[in-house]
Amino acid sequence: MDTNRLSKNIQMALNEQVTKEAHASQIYLSYAAWADKQGCGGIANFLFRHANEERNHMMKIIEYILKRGGEVQITAIPAPPQNPKSINNCFEKIFEHEVENTKAVYKVAKMAHVEEDWATWNFMQWFVKEQIEEETLAMELIDKIKIAGGENADAASLYSLDRDLENMPDDVASAEDATVENP
Ligand code: FEO
Repeated sequence: MDTNRLSKNIQMALNEQVTKEAHASQIYLSYAAWADKQGCGGIANFLFRHANEERNHMMKIIEYILKRGGEVQITAIPAPPQNPKSINNCFEKIFEHEVENTKAVYKVAKMAHVEEDWATWNFMQWFVKEQIEEETLAMELIDKIKIAGGENADAASLYSLDRDLENMPDDVASAEDATVENP
């Protein structure tokens, strides 16, 4: 008896989203390592912590697929893009990436709507809400670097920004209750 409650298309889309969240984690890891090399340990710390959050997103989807009797397919993760050219560029690339991820989340939600798979549609609403927070977080980073001088930020402003981010909460509110151990 087939107990898989996910259609083939939805299962495939959810698995693709698993890879996208893993890819997001790799992107944050690579930017974090790059930022640390630039001497921005606070920014690196913030980005390393955010990489974990992306992994939690991945785990949340894996858990959902399994709960619905589906099959999880773990595939290769694409390499992260090239290193940013500056801290300003780093934050812009993060924002662009989050917007791309929002589009991917909307695609799965739309597919669930068309198929009248209300369980998956409901599940995806968590991600729709989460993406609002993620985009807001990325916008805040851009605002902060803009105040520090954008591409022309001097060492003193970057130092102060770096210290701010060291202490900035990494978890957006809606993700606070999701961890790798408890997705
Ligand atoms: Fe999993 Fe940054 O979205």
